[in-house]
Parts: sequence; structure tokens; C-alpha cells
Amino acid sequence: MEATIAEIAPDIFRISIYPPGSGVSFGCFLIRDESPAMIETGLRSMYDLVHDAVRRLIDPAKLRYLVIPHFEMDECGSLNRFLAIAPRAEPVCSPVGGLVTLADFSDRPPKIVGGGERLSLGRKELRIVLAPWVHYWDSMLVHDETDRTLFTSDLFMQPGDREAIAREDRSAEVVDFCRFSGLLPSQKHLEAVLDRIEPLAVDTLACHHGSVLTGDPRRYYRALRQNTVGDVVQAPFYEMRNPPSAG
Ligand SMILES: [Fe+2]
Ligand SMILES: [Fe+2]
Repeated sequence: MEATIAEIAPDIFRISIYPPGSGVSFGCFLIRDESPAMIETGLRSMYDLVHDAVRRLIDPAKLRYLVIPHFEMDECGSLNRFLAIAPRAEPVCSPVGGLVTLADFSDRPPKIVGGGERLSLGRKELRIVLAPWVHYWDSMLVHDETDRTLFTSDLFMQPGDREAIAREDRSAEVVDFCRFSGLLPSQKHLEAVLDRIEPLAVDTLACHHGSVLTGDPRRYYRALRQNTVGDVVQAPFYEMRNPPSAG
């Protein structure tokens, strides 16, 4: 098992690992700037691989922000390992994430950010988009306004071991996988978040399972409005004993 590294936008690196036989690949993103940031830390069991990949890009001890889009093993399993080696690093999470998980789970108090709040990294500025119930209640997305990249976490995920960047339209596959996994509990909440992200300037959808999606993002927003993927009550994934991971 190894980590692959690809620069998917200026100074944004996708670090991706595909465990053999897994249903999905697991990615996280390193943003190289004056205050370096990671979006997702990856799983605890993958810390060594991810840390080694980060070390090829920056000095990991200089990490400043560890952004946690929601509380789940592939988003923050190795959070405390990174906090231990980066003395200035702060976890960054939504108000709900801070209240219900990270305040206790994290070895260092999280920096809690609200919708519309900005995080300056130096050249880049990140803006927070709260996304409750897309797909957990603490979920948030992050927009890099400088280089038009939206970090979407599990939204727009695709299964399998995929190339770093996909330019062709994957919207049918995205819809199918949402229905299979049942990861979006509420169409109403999903559409409220689509309302928030549609006006944003975006060239790249940085999802952490499958390929990063480039080209007109509106085809993906439209696909999730026109094909109901929320409100799935009986998803095949819910009943699988040894399911491919759809985290
Ligand atoms: Fe997730
Ligand atoms: Fe995930």
C-alpha cells in the first residue's frame, strides 16, 4: 500500500491511498502556504503513509491548521498523531463538531469556525460553508477562494481506485454511489447546501474518495437536485457485513 501525491490546483496536493480490495480510495489534501493546512488527516492506521507524503511537500512540524470536515475515522483518525508532531497545529471544525466530538477527542482544543468565516493561510484564504446533515450534523465544506477549489469531503465521491483528476462528467456515477451508500440522509439539507455553494467560484471539486472533479461543477449540483439522493431509507450499504467502505 502506498500514498500517491498529485498537485490538483496551485499548491494543493491530493494525497491518496487505495487499500487493496477496498471499495473506495482515501484521500486528504495538503495546502502549501505560509500557514500550511491539511483538509482531513486520513485514518489512524494510515498515519505513517500520509505523514511520509506530507514530509515530501513541507516540514510536517510546521502544520498550522488541521481542518476536520466532519468527525469520522477517515477525516480525523490521525488528528492526535499530527498534533503531537506539529506544536502550532490547531484542529478546525464546525460549532457542532466542537461541541459533540472534538472538544473531548482532540488532544488540543479545536478552533471553532462558523459559516462564512475565513481562515487566512497567507496567499490563500479559506472560507467555511456549514453543511449540516451533508452527511453528518457536524459537516462543513471549505472553499479556497484564491484558487477556486471546493473541498467537498464525501460529497461527489466515486468508488474504486481512480486517477487524481477527472475532467469527464461523472455525475451518473456520483448519483449511483450516493444511493448505494445512503450517506446523505436528507434531500432538504443537501439542497440547502447546494444553494450555498452554487454562487461560489469553483473550478475544482476536491472530494476525498475517488477523483478530484474539474470542469463545470454545476453539472454535479444539478445531478444531485434532479436525482433524489437524500432520504434513502434502505441503502444496500446499511445491510452489508463486509461492505466496501463508503465513509
Ligand atoms: Fe464521511
Ligand atoms: Fe470519507
